[in-house]
Amino acid sequence: MNHESNTLRLHTEDIRIDIVDRFISAGTNYISGGNLADELSITRTAVWKHIRGLEDLGFEFDAVPRRGYRLIRSPNIILQSLLQPYLRDDAELGSHVVWYPSVASTNVIANQLARQPATEHGTVVAALRQEGGKGRHGRNWNSPEGGLWMSVVLKRSFPLLRAAEVTLMASVAVARAVETVTGVSLDIKWPNDLLYKNKKVCGILAELRAGGESVDHVVLGIGLNSNVADAQIPHELKRIATSLLIESGAEVNQSQLAGAILSEFETMYRSLVNGDAGFVGVADEWRKRCVTIGRSIRVQTPQGLVEGTAINVDNQGVLQLRLTDGSTAAIHSGDVLF
Ligand code: BTN
Repeated sequence: MNHESNTLRLHTEDIRIDIVDRFISAGTNYISGGNLADELSITRTAVWKHIRGLEDLGFEFDAVPRRGYRLIRSPNIILQSLLQPYLRDDAELGSHVVWYPSVASTNVIANQLARQPATEHGTVVAALRQEGGKGRHGRNWNSPEGGLWMSVVLKRSFPLLRAAEVTLMASVAVARAVETVTGVSLDIKWPNDLLYKNKKVCGILAELRAGGESVDHVVLGIGLNSNVADAQIPHELKRIATSLLIESGAEVNQSQLAGAILSEFETMYRSLVNGDAGFVGVADEWRKRCVTIGRSIRVQTPQGLVEGTAINVDNQGVLQLRLTDGSTAAIHSGDVLF
């Protein structure tokens, strides 16, 4: 996407967000098309086009001649005005949302935005579905409609040495948010998969740009199988993946869940950026939720397959393995195969 169409897109999005905000504030009252047009300095035809655009996204309006429009239903998606009520009062994360009905990968868009100086720290890119969702180690990520697919642009600088803490903190933030909003308790599999009864519910992919010893920006991608139905999980993944909807039987409000994740994560991230505890502040909770520690595992590392018993994950997120010959190995990155 070139810069001009991106700017145009953001402009259309901003007007629509503004319109939705006005309808949410109006509650059950009608807003006339003429008033909206005057207040937004656009034509009545443009108002009508924006209303149609919002209907395409799943908003429903009641239109009454000479009275105007009234919002009667909002879609279950992550939009600025729907997310706002669930953010911290002083939130930076989520204060700007770019939403797509369909996109290759929110991480790709967020990476493009992160490189633009005008992009605000905390911008969230979210999508209804991804056609080319990216997983760790170059894998694909199944991203049908119903899931929570979002990438957060983090623009505060911090030491490169502490980069691994971002995804570890994010896994705690997701686990806490899911528990608070849905009551479902998730386990963590090192380094940052979230599981329910050994099946994956959420994956996290952080991509960063660093200059020298410090991180310039991070794109934190979170893929959460929230309202994904059983039929949307491909046959070959059913053994290893599940969703909150399948396990709890209830649909979750996506903006509420995203807001809870962002709020939880923001506290931890600020602590990291300020040179404070960061992951160490939540490491005990991470270890309590971690199902890897104490188990006999095989880990696929960049250097090859390693087998042993997971004895600990340290405050830097490094997995300590006791090997069959009694020696220990420190594993910095890899995939655990139970
Ligand atoms: C994993 O392999 O466990 C990480 C999966 C990360 C998926 C999310 S969905 C939102 C964001 N956009 C992507 O393309 N990937 C991440």
